[in-house]
Amino acid sequence: MAQPGRRDLNRRGLFVTFEGIDGSGKSTQARRLAADLRDQGREVVLTREPGGSPGAEEIRSLVLEGDPDRWSAETEILLFTAARRDHMERTIWPALRAGKVVICDRFADSTRMYQGLSRGQLRPVVDDLHKLMIADEPDLTLLIDMDPTTGLARAKGRQGHEERFEDFGLDLQARMREGFLDLAAEFPARFRVIDGNRAEDEVAADIRHLIAPELASDLT
Ligand code: ADP
Ligand code: TYD
Repeated sequence: MAQPGRRDLNRRGLFVTFEGIDGSGKSTQARRLAADLRDQGREVVLTREPGGSPGAEEIRSLVLEGDPDRWSAETEILLFTAARRDHMERTIWPALRAGKVVICDRFADSTRMYQGLSRGQLRPVVDDLHKLMIADEPDLTLLIDMDPTTGLARAKGRQGHEERFEDFGLDLQARMREGFLDLAAEFPARFRVIDGNRAEDEVAADIRHLIAPELASDLT
């Protein structure tokens, strides 16, 4: 299957991802942005990773439920990448070809962080597999930066059984926060860093402001 890239003439939509530590407000802001853009009359696909297609949602339960030591870091890289490939084929690439705005709650930057950094230096493996199987990047990545203690408290406040990574605690959250800020410096063209330690409305206003020029230039 052809893999569209940013210069692919068939790709007319806009691909936006949200990244940040657990509890930083990604899901909340992704939902709000999708609602705002739909109110403006745009076609929006709101999706998430791991998941976003029936097959990838099945892989999601495999990776997020059960014993935290269930998989090695290498196996996790394969599982997250397999889920992502299915998500691209079934959900993201068709939507982008159709000119829609795709808003995705977490994407490959999360694999670069959680599998690439948390249990050893596996970033080169993540990057190699990404190049081989995904070979695509978002047009815009909104990093919601957040104090790890607040983020963890917010994440713990939610009910649920998908606790694998939250269970690793404050130390991991702090390292992930730093890692995400480093990624933003590594890919300055597509990253925007947003201060998440503020009221929901203020964060949403910032995001509306940041995305406006991208919509003006990328969509006809
Ligand atoms: P993430 O998807 O990054 O894990 P969520 O959007 O699920 O984060 O938010 C985690 C929790 O924090 C939710 O209960 C949500 O209602 C709450 N929350 C989100 N944004 C804010 C904010 N700006 N201020 C206070 N609480 C927030
Ligand atoms: P998510 O549901 O976005 O959690 P949260 O709302 O708490 O941020 O993601 C679930 C977990 O999956 C999260 O702890 C990060 C982890 N994850 C990875 O480890 N690698 C990945 O590639 C992705 C997409 C997520």
